[in-house]
Amino acid sequence: MGKEITVTIDGKAAGRVVGLEHLAEIAALLGSESEVFVIYDENASWVASEVVSALPGIKGSIAIDASEEEKSMETVLLLCRSLMEAGASRKALVLAIGGGITTDLAGFAASIYKRGVRYANLPTTLLAQVDAAIGGKTGVNFDDYKNMLGVIVQPVFTFICADVLRTLPRRDFLSGAAEMLKTFLIENEDDNYGKAVRCLSGSGDGLQDLVFAAAAVKAGVVSRDPFEQGERRKLNLGHTFAHAIEHEARQQGDDITHGEAVAMGMILAARLSDATGLSTGMEARLTQDFTAVGLPVACPYPPETLAAAMDKDKKAEGGLVHFVLPERIGSVVIRDLKVDEVIKTLKI
Ligand code: GLY
Repeated sequence: MGKEITVTIDGKAAGRVVGLEHLAEIAALLGSESEVFVIYDENASWVASEVVSALPGIKGSIAIDASEEEKSMETVLLLCRSLMEAGASRKALVLAIGGGITTDLAGFAASIYKRGVRYANLPTTLLAQVDAAIGGKTGVNFDDYKNMLGVIVQPVFTFICADVLRTLPRRDFLSGAAEMLKTFLIENEDDNYGKAVRCLSGSGDGLQDLVFAAAAVKAGVVSRDPFEQGERRKLNLGHTFAHAIEHEARQQGDDITHGEAVAMGMILAARLSDATGLSTGMEARLTQDFTAVGLPVACPYPPETLAAAMDKDKKAEGGLVHFVLPERIGSVVIRDLKVDEVIKTLKI
């Protein structure tokens, strides 16, 4: 077994993030469970098969098409029906195996089934290992709005196993790399940011330790602010721009991954930070590092086209949007700003 950290809520242990050297080690932690139901992304079926062989208490396993289109209330209801038909009781443990869409769907279904049964995550993408599968955000898209319905309920376990990444396509790996770099821009113990840039660009190793370090940063932030009242907003570094970029990409029919949009979004946040005097040379530094890793840095859309999507947030927050700005590597600040002023600044 590898390292372990605990997510605490109000000082009480709410979930464990556990590093696994091999998938079979999951038996030592879940072997005593009498009712495990696996919900897995069909693209991660080899991981699900290994887990099913290692665990005697599996009572059912359900494959899903883990796409944004299927991330819906209908899928959650189908999952609940499958649990019901398989006889899942209140003792059931739902084990999600897949990326963030799978952990969001399975976690949501578990959290409402019989008013809530426990769930655990075995993330199979780098993005989910460092971000989506930790912290208890679950949910689905609704009426064209992403993650509009959901709950925050902590998984009892999140298993981090580097081995499952070996079949991850390069572009998906890079999407997670952007979230890992984001995490270390927020908190940079032991120069993890520098180590991550070297590792991800091929001139360093230690991926498993870095994944776990990023997961630990996220677990710490969530423990201090589980319901995103303050500090957890820092995890949205680059995301206000990224969501607008992803929205514009959908309109244009362009293919941009979440991590690619986050990388471009962090560059725009750095430009804003430099322009407001909060940082010096941040945009140049991040541009150099992200390019070395293989991430795109140039947003293909002019800043003014992003304004409409960001304005949607503005309405929700009384005219101002929370922007997360990097002041140096390992430290970010949250500023509530007007979208039109931000756009003007970015165009300079
Ligand atoms: N992905 C950001 C968060 O979990 O708060």
